[in-house]
Amino acid sequence: MLNKTRLLLGLTLTLITSGSLYAQTLTVNIKNFQFQPSNLSIDQGDTVQWVNQDSSTHTSTSDHSLWDSKNLSQAGTFTRSFDKPGKFTYHCAIHPGMKATVIIRTAEQTQIKIGKDIIASLPKQLPITLKLAGQNADQVYRGSYLVNAQGACADCHSCPTYAAGHNPYQGQPKQFNAQSYLAGGRAFGPFISANITPDESGKPAGITLAQFKDLLRTGHDPDVPGNILQVMPWPIYGMMSDRDLDAIYAYLSAIPKATQPLASACP
Ligand code: HEC
Repeated sequence: MLNKTRLLLGLTLTLITSGSLYAQTLTVNIKNFQFQPSNLSIDQGDTVQWVNQDSSTHTSTSDHSLWDSKNLSQAGTFTRSFDKPGKFTYHCAIHPGMKATVIIRTAEQTQIKIGKDIIASLPKQLPITLKLAGQNADQVYRGSYLVNAQGACADCHSCPTYAAGHNPYQGQPKQFNAQSYLAGGRAFGPFISANITPDESGKPAGITLAQFKDLLRTGHDPDVPGNILQVMPWPIYGMMSDRDLDAIYAYLSAIPKATQPLASACP
């Protein structure tokens, strides 16, 4: 019973601290007197497994005494998980010329990577092209992570949310509807979600960064003074940090402009 509880707790903690989709195990092959890959980047909570493919004996030994596999004969393996971000160099104690590095991303670097993967992944989850000129690309990619993987903005602001034949709720391979991505038009009773893509001047939803932050913090509709936005989960989003809201705004400034579909045309 205790073991089971500890296992569950361990799993939960791994998921919370890793910041990645899943805590993964990545392999480094020891082959032809080399660590392959010699530069491995992973997320916090991931595990590295070294596999000796040579007939000679090798080790995976931290340059700073953090780990030591001891001798690995052919087909021998050694695993270690990494919780803290940083750059860790190691070598083979028998063949000191064999050197390599494991880099553990910070939580923010993991978010940037996931945000970028959402746009760049093949098959495409979200086939849009971002306008990165004049933008801080990492900030935009972190905004992509916050909007797509956390904020679920497309659930209400894209209509339909998923492309035809790509609705994950119907067991189909997931792909966001790129054509009217975040262009609004979905009706919630009398409230219609807004088009939050850039306007002619490039401002998302036609509002400035200051107005956007005020809106997410207070729910005040900049178009209709005195009006408090309904349905929109601003009381939740408003708890985000300034950096987060800046990143969301940067991302919304970089997505393609799209025309708001008629609410009557939305399923
Ligand atoms: C649960 C549905 C829902 C979700 C999720 C949602 N919104 Fe909204 N949003 C709405 C609705 C509905 C409105 C219009 C509310 C009204 O008119 O009272 C709106 C309005 C807005 C507006 C105001 C635009 C304007 O010019 O008036 C902005 C900006 C906005 N949302 C941004 C976002 C962002 C960014 C996210 C994700 C982080 C998000 N929304 C997630 C439903 C949602």
